[in-house]
Amino acid sequence: MQTLTRDFKIAPSILAADFARLGEEVDAVLEAGADMIHFDVMDNHYVPNLSFGPMVCEALRKYGVTAPIDVHLMVEPVDALIEQFVQAGASYITFHPEASRHVDRSLRLIKEGGCKAGLVLNPGSSLDLVRPVLDELDMLLLMSVNPGFGGQTFIPYTLDKLAQARELIDRSGKPIRLEVDGGVNLDTIGSTVLAGADTFVAGSAIFGAPDYRQAVADLRAKIQAAHEQASQ
Ligand code: DX5
Ligand code: ZN
Repeated sequence: MQTLTRDFKIAPSILAADFARLGEEVDAVLEAGADMIHFDVMDNHYVPNLSFGPMVCEALRKYGVTAPIDVHLMVEPVDALIEQFVQAGASYITFHPEASRHVDRSLRLIKEGGCKAGLVLNPGSSLDLVRPVLDELDMLLLMSVNPGFGGQTFIPYTLDKLAQARELIDRSGKPIRLEVDGGVNLDTIGSTVLAGADTFVAGSAIFGAPDYRQAVADLRAKIQAAHEQASQ
């Protein structure tokens, strides 16, 4: 059952932004009401695509972005980039446990750097990968598409895993965010709320919309409606 106090956050993925105007795009989604910026780092090794790295994160900070930057590492190995993203001004750093030989060490690197730490599970990866270190996490991110590209279709069986993750988190009693990433839009976001997500990555659903303010408001309305439905 959902609690009335759950604090929902919307995190637009800049993978879907116009890179030629990145600073303005980030300002625009934050002014439109987004809570944090989701920053997808791809290395053409862990995933078959290449995006941007710590220099771009640092550039956004220098440009004046003060909102939380939620760095999602789709890279292997992870430790060297964790250190660079700590320096670059990341707020959250999440990585895929399969991409680190020493998951606990990588989590510690993030926290010792003063950032919030999280793990990411692919659609085909089991929650068992995070159970041993759950208490160390500030965020658990469940992929609802296979990582590597924006604009893919939401994989419905993620909902079961979200519900199981919500149970694990509630049982732990820790304030761990439960984030969902991939294919989140007006048609799918409600079901993720019902399953227990509280943090929503949306790339094409926001940057692909003609009016960012309207897109964020519409997503928030769907979150609220699903939340009210779950609270009845
Ligand atoms: C996929 C990325 C996602 C992606 C989401 O590997 O992790 O953050 O940009 O894009 P949409 O919302 O378009 O599915
Ligand atoms: Zn992502």
